[in-house]
Amino acid sequence: MTPATESRPRREIPWFEARVPRVHGDFTWVYLWGAPLRVMHWVSVFSIITLVVTGLYIGQPYFMAGGEASSHFLMGRFRFAHFLAAAIIVMAAIVRVYWLFVGNVYERWPALFPVTPRNLRNVWLVLKSYFTMRLEKQPHFVGHNPLAQLAYTTIYFVTAAMIVTGFSMYGQAAPGGFFDTIFGWLPPLVGGLQRVRLIHHTLLWVYPMFVLIHVYLAIRADSVEHAGGVSSILTGGRFVSSHDTFEDFNIHDQPSEPWKSKHH
Ligand code: HEM
Repeated sequence: MTPATESRPRREIPWFEARVPRVHGDFTWVYLWGAPLRVMHWVSVFSIITLVVTGLYIGQPYFMAGGEASSHFLMGRFRFAHFLAAAIIVMAAIVRVYWLFVGNVYERWPALFPVTPRNLRNVWLVLKSYFTMRLEKQPHFVGHNPLAQLAYTTIYFVTAAMIVTGFSMYGQAAPGGFFDTIFGWLPPLVGGLQRVRLIHHTLLWVYPMFVLIHVYLAIRADSVEHAGGVSSILTGGRFVSSHDTFEDFNIHDQPSEPWKSKHH
């Protein structure tokens, strides 16, 4: 808290509001996330929930039905749901790869690798501000901050590994078939099919950890920045205060008119 001085504003501004974007002022709505990216996000959310729930069941059935297996076909249904969700996430992945080349600057493939010295310094600054809870020290980004981006890049790679290991197991049902021909190289490479299964199962746990941190940080960012970050994954855009400076955005490059309001 700043000591009392004559120049202090009448209303005492809490330290954490001093430099983070303000609640009141001139705001511009910036369109960030194209429709394909948003659709891919929500399709992936539902597919991943299905894949985790059904995958855990396949690995170790957590409930059983009485009677002959052929009468309820429970495991068969779980496996079917797993493979259906797998097909859907592959389609979402194809859309995402396409969007890496035609999306805007926040969506294209260079954004996936924030590894320049400036980006790495910003990763450190974001981490430091999280751990010390000094929000005013956190660099501002209109798109993802580089730490968040690295987390998303990791989840993309994990999903690619899930797809490759999953289809490699799937191919075993039809030796010499399409999937076995394309993904059959994996078991000999990693030391057998059981190893593939172990990798597939172990990587599953990345998702619950990611989701917890991702949802927490998204809500946290929205409540400290007041910029509509959470709704941006539905609407495609967020609010940018004309008074703030951003590492990845210059308000003066923005053709749209500032949206003046005291309430948003
Ligand atoms: C986020 C993505 C995914 C998650 C979290 C996930 C999770 C799991 C888990 C936990 C298992 C059980 C492993 C065990 O036996 O212990 C499993 C099995 C399996 N998964 Fe996935 N999986 C995912 C994506 C995929 C994809 C893309 C495919 C592609 C077809 C796939 C195909 C399979 C197959 C074939 C099995 C073995 C089924 C069996 O043995 O009957 N998975 N998955």
